[in-house]
Amino acid sequence: MTPDLMEEGARRMREYAQKRAQATASGGREASFGRLLKLGEPDFAHGVALYLEDITVSFDGFKALNALSLTVNVGELRCIIGPNGAGKTTMMDCITGKTRPDTGRVFFGSTIDLLRLTEPQIAQIGVGRKFQKPTVYEELSVFENLELALAADRRVRASLLSRLSGAQLDRIGEVLTLIHLRGEAQRTAGLLSHGQKQWLEIGMLLMQDPKLLLLDEPVAGMTDEETERTAELFLSLEGQHSLVVVEHDMKFVEQLTQGHKKVTVLHEGSVLAEGKLADVQANDKVVEVYLGR
Ligand SMILES: Nc1ncnc2c1ncn2[C@@H]1O[C@H](COP(=O)(O)OP(=O)(O)OP(=O)(O)O)[C@@H](O)[C@H]1O
Ligand SMILES: [Mg+2]
Repeated sequence: MTPDLMEEGARRMREYAQKRAQATASGGREASFGRLLKLGEPDFAHGVALYLEDITVSFDGFKALNALSLTVNVGELRCIIGPNGAGKTTMMDCITGKTRPDTGRVFFGSTIDLLRLTEPQIAQIGVGRKFQKPTVYEELSVFENLELALAADRRVRASLLSRLSGAQLDRIGEVLTLIHLRGEAQRTAGLLSHGQKQWLEIGMLLMQDPKLLLLDEPVAGMTDEETERTAELFLSLEGQHSLVVVEHDMKFVEQLTQGHKKVTVLHEGSVLAEGKLADVQANDKVVEVYLGR
């Protein structure tokens, strides 16, 4: 990418960011997005990234989550499987502050009680979430989308309004490579394939360097090749980030778990089985409620 192309991209992004800032100046939905908050640093020294204990969520008396407990370690890539309605998305809603459980505890690291934080605070402290439908800025380029993701952090936004630092450019370059879009940096995001848009959105999350990434059915609608590349991407993130991946695509789960990683099976709002994929696939209860259908 040439410097003048980057300069041009940065200029368009600045205009766009200013327009958006004006649009929400009276306190719109995004007004809280980059607000600086004094939050304690998460403590990962005990090796735990996420700890759910006894979570129950009721909708009109129906328990979408029923005494759910789950621990995800630092750097772990955990796949969560289970039938429709098992509570997988509701579990993510509880972690990200979208839904408040009736009972239970949700900890990020060993000290941060996520149930005390708002949705924007949870995002800011290092929990990134990818919803099923890609939500990129269609009219901006791939590069600008990543730049804008940096700008979601107000501390960064101030400096972006002048220009990107070398380190920020390097990071955008790194993320472009990770998400297989280096050659598409100047392409309008709206012209990308569905799979590429999903990668771009993951890239946007990565720009904020989340410690924990929650990915809800990330390969839904992808081609086989895109699915395989997505698995490679997640495997390359493992270790530096903790990942919780909800997916129905067993081939993808197989690729992610590499024969040895732990998989969690949810059913009716609690953990039905946990263990190696081959073991849970051979579990009679799992076959009955999920795989055997
Ligand atoms: N806001 C809500 N109001 C009422 N019921 C809800 C609400 N959100 C979820 N539910 C119900 O809670 C249960 C769990 O839903 P959830 O979306 O968490 O399942 P899931 O495991 O993600 O399923 P899928 O694999 O289909 O995405 C379902 O029976 C669903 O209908
Ligand atoms: Mg779901």
